[in-house]
Amino acid sequence: MKTVSICFVCLGNICRSPTAEAVMRAQVEAAGLSDRIAIDSAGTGDWHVGKAPDERAQRAGRTRGYDLSPLRARQVTAADFDRFDLLLAMDEANLRNLERICPGQRRERVRLLMEFAPHAAGREVVDPYFGGREGFEAVLDQVEAACEGLLAHLRTLLARP
Ligand code: 4NP
Repeated sequence: MKTVSICFVCLGNICRSPTAEAVMRAQVEAAGLSDRIAIDSAGTGDWHVGKAPDERAQRAGRTRGYDLSPLRARQVTAADFDRFDLLLAMDEANLRNLERICPGQRRERVRLLMEFAPHAAGREVVDPYFGGREGFEAVLDQVEAACEGLLAHLRTLLARP
């Protein structure tokens, strides 16, 4: 049976991309596709490697039923461009950083997450790290919308021969 693997990427891997990982895991599980869609997240930076997600991201996620607590930050590696069918950048800076280290023949695997939510506000999931609680709610709103569009896209990939 065909499978796909995806990796959400932000700067620190403690706010946006772990939120996206938890949201997508929940949507994929609800769709009964956990054995066909592998999900991970990583950061372009290395400052927070090994750490659990930011407390504020964990708290905001928990109120919507997402458990971020088992996740641990890691940095993107060259091997990720081979391992994952899609690397989903949260903002334009993450996208540029990924494209800079991505081998040429893997370039089409790197995309902006918000491309998959054409009707949602903004092309970027805005970095909530230096802001308040409402920033983490905005991340959840954007990510929930984008993951729905992403899941629909992955279903078409899985259905292809
Ligand atoms: P993230 O948020 O990229 O969504 O995980 C950030 C986390 C840490 C920092 C910036 C953004 N930082 O500057 O340490």
